[in-house]
Amino acid sequence: MKRSRVLLMAAILTIAVALGYSPLRAQTTNPRSAPGSYTAAQAAAGAKLYEANCSACHGATMRGPAGPALIGDAFTAQWTNEPASDMYGLMSKNMPLGDPGSLKPAEYLEITAYLLQRNKYPAGPMPLTQARLKTIKIVSPSS
Ligand code: HEC
Repeated sequence: MKRSRVLLMAAILTIAVALGYSPLRAQTTNPRSAPGSYTAAQAAAGAKLYEANCSACHGATMRGPAGPALIGDAFTAQWTNEPASDMYGLMSKNMPLGDPGSLKPAEYLEITAYLLQRNKYPAGPMPLTQARLKTIKIVSPSS
């Protein structure tokens, strides 16, 4: 009885591997399914800041009219495999265009949380911080 159960398990595992299920691959974390790196409250505050300071150029849909897209393939292609801190650095030094650096660091973090949310990164219980920014990798929407 025991032996046949072992055989059954082995058969299931063989079939699973044959179907492309890799126990190893299942362990690598997709940042989108990892525990959230910002809170929903941060993203909500970021949405208001974005509306007031950014949407005139980047649009409510984050695809213009004036600035480059901040969402989807065009955006993530620019930043793929870069830590979110790089994007944060550029944004906090150069944006809003015409009045760069005019927001507080915490406000840029909230906007970053909102950008992550719009790019389908999940929210979680831990707030986004400068340290956590370095641990978040931007991935393309298809991955
Ligand atoms: C006056 C118009 C304007 C405003 C307001 C503005 N931006 Fe921009 N933004 C631009 C333009 C134009 C670029 C491209 C600049 C470049 O390539 O040098 C840009 C680039 C960016 C980039 C880099 C995108 C990429 O993939 O290269 C980010 C991120 C960004 N803006 C975020 C923001 C945020 C967040 C705000 C609000 C705090 C903001 N912008 C406000 C016009 C604007």
